[in-house]
Amino acid sequence: MKIDAVTIFPEYFAPLKLSLLGKAQGAGLVEFGIHDLRSFATNVHNQVDDTPYGGGAGMVMMPEVWGKALDPLMNSESDLIILTPAGKRFDQPMAQKFSTAAHLVYACGRYEGIDDRVRQHYLSKNFRVHEVSIGDYVLGGGEVASLVMIEAITRLIPGVLGNPQSLAEESHNEQGYLEYPNFTKPATWRDIPVPEILLSGNHGEITKWRAAQAIERAKNNL
Ligand code: ADE
Repeated sequence: MKIDAVTIFPEYFAPLKLSLLGKAQGAGLVEFGIHDLRSFATNVHNQVDDTPYGGGAGMVMMPEVWGKALDPLMNSESDLIILTPAGKRFDQPMAQKFSTAAHLVYACGRYEGIDDRVRQHYLSKNFRVHEVSIGDYVLGGGEVASLVMIEAITRLIPGVLGNPQSLAEESHNEQGYLEYPNFTKPATWRDIPVPEILLSGNHGEITKWRAAQAIERAKNNL
């Protein structure tokens, strides 16, 4: 999968070199391209935003700069993802869908967002355009939101996770993806013992116990 991100803060994407994502890139399973929006600015002040038509607080990102940045990236294989708190809520099924895409282009807005004509333009040219929010809160910009999406989506690409069994177990846990509590050695820590059943070796009973625990957790999180 090819992943491009357009941002005024390319440094935000430094974590792509680390851990799972860094390894996935090293193994050739994903390729990242981070593009500095400001390098597409058209005036001497390298301006990327301006005051909103109709008035109101804040600044809006200018369409011309975005068009110049996105035109060379977009092709028939691309899905354009515009990060905005007003978008469709990102969740695991959406991550699954995007994990089979060939090319994801993340447009990271700042300020009050990107001039809506950018979305309208690429839609009118028959590109696939998605406005996506990672949750009901307002971030300073789309950079962190796109990192969240990139991590959740990339780990679903075949070959990225060292142990594919973890993906199989997750997809079993359909209701909200909540899992049972986990324990490792030692068997007692600060006077708290690991639940007896997990030491029993009775795999049937362990599976039942874990399912009940996962349901209990889900209830408590409602
Ligand atoms: N930009 C600002 N807040 C956001 C959110 N919650 N999701 C996606 N992009 C955003």
